[in-house]
Amino acid sequence: MKYTRKLNYKWLLLFLFCYISNAEAAEVLRFDSRWKFYLGDKGQEAIQPGYNDSDWRALDLPHDWSIEGAYEQTANGTDWQSGFLPAGIGWYRKTFSYDPDWNGKKVRIQFDGIYLNSEVWINGHSLGKRPNGYIGFEYDLTPYLKTGDNCIAVKVDQSKPLTGRWYTGSGIYRHVYLHVSSPVHIGYSGVYFNVDTFLPDKAVCSVDVSIVNPAEEMVQVVSCLLDKSGQTVARSSGTGNVVSGDKVEMEVVYPERWSPDNPFVYTLVCQLKKGETVVDEVRQPVGFRSLAFSPEFGFKLNGKVVKLKGVCDHHTAGAVGAAVPEDVLYYRLKLLKEMGCNAIRTAHNPFSPEFYTMCDTMGLMVLNEGLDGWNTPKAADDYGNYFEEWWEKDMTAFIKRDRNHPSVIMWSIGNEVYKSSAEIQCNLVNLFHSLDTRPVTQGGADPTRGMSVDYKKNFGSLDIVGFNGNGEEVGEFEKFRKNFPSVCAVATEVPHTYQTRGVYRTKTQWRRRDFPAPWEQGDPVKWDQFEKRVYPIPDLTDEEFFPEEAANPYYQSSYDNASVRISIRKSWQRTCSFPWLMGEFRWGSFDYLGEAAWPQRCGNFGIIDVAAMPKDAYFLYQSLWSDKPMVHLLPHWTHTRKEGQIVPVVVYTNCDSVELLLNGVSLGTQPYEGEQLVWKVPYKAGKIEARAKMGHEIVVTDLQQTASSPYTVAFSANKSVLRAGTGDVARLELGVVDKDGVLCPYASEELSFELEGSVRLLGVDNGDPVDMFPYKQPRCRTFRGKCVLLLQATDTPGTAVITVWSDKLKEKKITLDIK
Ligand code: GAL
Repeated sequence: MKYTRKLNYKWLLLFLFCYISNAEAAEVLRFDSRWKFYLGDKGQEAIQPGYNDSDWRALDLPHDWSIEGAYEQTANGTDWQSGFLPAGIGWYRKTFSYDPDWNGKKVRIQFDGIYLNSEVWINGHSLGKRPNGYIGFEYDLTPYLKTGDNCIAVKVDQSKPLTGRWYTGSGIYRHVYLHVSSPVHIGYSGVYFNVDTFLPDKAVCSVDVSIVNPAEEMVQVVSCLLDKSGQTVARSSGTGNVVSGDKVEMEVVYPERWSPDNPFVYTLVCQLKKGETVVDEVRQPVGFRSLAFSPEFGFKLNGKVVKLKGVCDHHTAGAVGAAVPEDVLYYRLKLLKEMGCNAIRTAHNPFSPEFYTMCDTMGLMVLNEGLDGWNTPKAADDYGNYFEEWWEKDMTAFIKRDRNHPSVIMWSIGNEVYKSSAEIQCNLVNLFHSLDTRPVTQGGADPTRGMSVDYKKNFGSLDIVGFNGNGEEVGEFEKFRKNFPSVCAVATEVPHTYQTRGVYRTKTQWRRRDFPAPWEQGDPVKWDQFEKRVYPIPDLTDEEFFPEEAANPYYQSSYDNASVRISIRKSWQRTCSFPWLMGEFRWGSFDYLGEAAWPQRCGNFGIIDVAAMPKDAYFLYQSLWSDKPMVHLLPHWTHTRKEGQIVPVVVYTNCDSVELLLNGVSLGTQPYEGEQLVWKVPYKAGKIEARAKMGHEIVVTDLQQTASSPYTVAFSANKSVLRAGTGDVARLELGVVDKDGVLCPYASEELSFELEGSVRLLGVDNGDPVDMFPYKQPRCRTFRGKCVLLLQATDTPGTAVITVWSDKLKEKKITLDIK
């Protein structure tokens, strides 16, 4: 079943360039294009402007070199956690000409994220080092610039490759900007917007601006708020001339409230003026909403109880690795939004600035997590080695970068932290409280898991207790509630379930019993001890209907019956039954690279596969979380040589009732009462259809049909017109179909792609967790009938023609317009 919801993409684009100022004396330029890259260690001579880099590769940022490499079980130095792709050392250089307009101005460079251990030089002078790979930072170039050519050099040191418990990417994988302003300017992340009073008829907000002002010039801070049409709805009166920071106030009458249903953002314009001249300006999306957290009602947004329908997400995106183009990010967030998801946990690090801006404008709440572990490394070479020296600086940068976003509702200071101390926890919480008003939680800070604070006595300094896996265990929430009735709680990582797109098994699978995770092999807790801690999931049939799937132990069933401790359905029922629980963040949203044992490149935790194709669980969540009428049936209907055998047909819906029809004959109607609907159907080739009704009216339908042999390729695209020179991405989802256009659910065809015209290949993927092919090659094997092709517009307008061919299938030509 498909539908599209209109999301305000125009606003989104506006804010992606929100830094771009129109102040006369200030300019913010994207500094992504025309860099040189060398994979390997070049030594210090590469920092000098005159160094000959003519044999280095020319590329545009953002760039992730790991995702371009080949999978190797041991040769790359990365492991099952960080993903078997190459790490190493990489060098970047960019030579640029001095612009005479910069005379007398300040020129700063801003990096939104470099993975990992970067050092930056300008014309041979070191500007600084940054071990953290997820934090943005800026350096002042001014004292070192000269007329003529200037050179930025960046060394990225991922040579100790076990830096993450997931695939991290390597390189300058986020945007770079050049800020040109007067010497007196607004500091990096120097605007703090806060709503001090929020009533139905008015809101008073303050804007606290930090100013960098070496010559102590007299300046004035002026702020205003613009609505969507660009009209000024509030303006600060200004407090007169200042030389350092200033705080101004503004009053808005009848402010529009921000919420996931109405993601209304205002534009905050903050200016520095010298006399009548605007010398610097920052624009940011801001919003008005009230947040309340309590052990009685859980969570209220704008005075109304809202359950968090959340997912845990990693920052990478399959075939593009960590260098995620805005179109790809938008596509992913739109999928989640259309599923009915209202919240995302940034597991376990700061995400890109674009992510938060999209969440603001699309209406997704963010549980903003800054760290995984603390002072004790969890992966051998991770941030734990740098924590003591850097935590305060990095977390300060994180809070200041993100605290103006209306989407951010809570902070998380860590995830399943162990071998640490209550003192460190307290220092972290105090830092967050000193810089912001939102509450602080920690993933897996439940009483029985996580760091070794004495949880029997207290929960350390946290405002909200976050439950990970243990929250899924029989009776754990009840026990917590009984013992700690006045403590606020959220399920930061519940439930953990598994699925492989297009794979079905009718007998229940448990991780610990049937497909142990790498870290569970040899685990002393045996299944017979663990079994009593899980919520039973009955088998769908006595005999396995899909015995052939047992051949691959790395695939899990797409019925809601492959799990760690609890099914999706049971977990959500429990979450809804506890008014005190704010909601849940499931693990995970999309399959992500890493955290899987060879020969897997990813696990199956996602409800959407690594190529961003939804699994059946996506539709189960949609039935639970979305109000838009929907119906979805599974499994597919191509079960060769199984005529007459009983196949369980499962239907997810949020409508009143569903009628199931096989080849036009009704198999009966079932009312929807909050559980999945199941029909046991003797298999017969043809068409199986679910008709969902509200009252007596059919409102939506879904159909599965028996496929004959593969004939050609069908496709769907996120867009058919791309803008040249903008980084726009077309995502083509290709399916192998029979003569009647029916998807062949087992098709495994090697497709080749020929590209002509104004696009370049960004990546290919098929979602198969055990297919370790290079992402940048113009071919891809379909997995369960499908694969994905990502194409990026070049700088030249024109037409692009993509020819898809294989030995056995009829060729397909796809045309895109590049304007
Ligand atoms: C959790 C952990 C996540 C991920 C997940 C996989 O314990 O917090 O980062 O590792 O397990 O099951």
